[in-house]
Amino acid sequence: MGSTIVNAPCTVPSVKGFDTLYYVGLRPTSTLRFNSGRTSISGRSQRLFVVRASERHDGHVKKIEMSIEECEAAVVAGNAPEAPPVPPKPAAPVGTPVIQPFQLSRRPRRNRKSPALRASFQETSISPANFVYPLFIHEGQEDTPIGAMPGCYRLGWRHGLVEEVAKARDVGVNSIVLFPKVPDALKSPTGDEAYNDNGLVPRTIRLLKDKYPDLVIYTDVALDPYSSDGHDGIVREDGVIMNDETVHQLCKQAVSQARAGADVVSPSDMMDGRVGAIRDALDAEGFHHVSIMSYTAKYASSFYGPFREALDSNPRFGDKKTYQMNPANYREALVEAHEDEAEGADILLVKPGLPYLDIIRLLRDESPLPIAAYQVSGEYSMIKAGGVLKMIDEERVMMESLMCLRRAGADIILTYFALQAARCLCGEKR
Ligand code: PBG
Repeated sequence: MGSTIVNAPCTVPSVKGFDTLYYVGLRPTSTLRFNSGRTSISGRSQRLFVVRASERHDGHVKKIEMSIEECEAAVVAGNAPEAPPVPPKPAAPVGTPVIQPFQLSRRPRRNRKSPALRASFQETSISPANFVYPLFIHEGQEDTPIGAMPGCYRLGWRHGLVEEVAKARDVGVNSIVLFPKVPDALKSPTGDEAYNDNGLVPRTIRLLKDKYPDLVIYTDVALDPYSSDGHDGIVREDGVIMNDETVHQLCKQAVSQARAGADVVSPSDMMDGRVGAIRDALDAEGFHHVSIMSYTAKYASSFYGPFREALDSNPRFGDKKTYQMNPANYREALVEAHEDEAEGADILLVKPGLPYLDIIRLLRDESPLPIAAYQVSGEYSMIKAGGVLKMIDEERVMMESLMCLRRAGADIILTYFALQAARCLCGEKR
């Protein structure tokens, strides 16, 4: 969103909050119930600051003693009414050096002088509508905590997941991306479970769309959760990841997800030519309306460690360096971006997020398409760990990191902080 006029009650989290919160929250209208200036979200009652176009003046009209002409005449005659005196110059501490002020034509600090001025000149905004919430699902009925990702769970697809989605929607996060934990017995070298129409992901999509028809569901297209080798593609005897054969499987996977009701399919596998092939496969089945978010610049990163623990999807051998990009490379992101654009991608994604801000900016400047950034598991876990150890202020670092991704040029951000950050933007306390 470049600039937005949100036709909703704007809730500035109190004026004194300006100094502590440099972000401004907007509540989603759909979940609001108004009763005398208070609103109740998830059962809790909170103060609402409704911004009106004009204040009502009737009833507050002061008794008029002098006409305008008489007031003006008094001033002209030199009898100006009293106003507070010019404020005294604030004293500097004893010992402050007495110097000649610099002759500066520009003092950038002037525009940062007060909370209101800082708010006026803020260049980047962030809102819950910018978030996509990644959710881990499994066949179980209970939610199991993910050790390496404090606050994240493998959610039961029929219970915990549905509740988590409801919580997210309550604070304006209406987009999710699903990651399945697949039973080992269903994994195979060719990952065929990936296109089982009654597999965990398609079943979950159907359930969520039934409950929340307007929910935006992104899916992950890659074989790793379904591969007995833990790779994103089919592994040949000599360890080579087979490109075109993998893409064949990915097309079936994407179509199966689209059939279940997915809105955006997101190939994260980094095979060559998969965007065009998936586009063709979707169109051939009548899914012209299903979007493709391509993981355009996905790096072979160590920041994915906690995610692989969450899904138990570590490669059984080797690494992903023959398909994911070398973290040392910048120009190569352009090669990928040009291909994905030409093949019909609707959204270009950069992953990881914060260590790759230059790549986000590069794609933002080079492409007219929307840009997504993925704040990955390792980025999330580091902020969480720092917060738990009281080394950093978790909430502020969280909000700053998300704002920086937006500043670099990301339209949307896939983040495990989506719910927590949206609550924060809505002025809810932890
Ligand atoms: C796999 C996939 C990965 C992530 C998203 N999709 C891991 C990988 O490539 O090994 C990582 C997400 C994260 O770390 O949060 N297709």
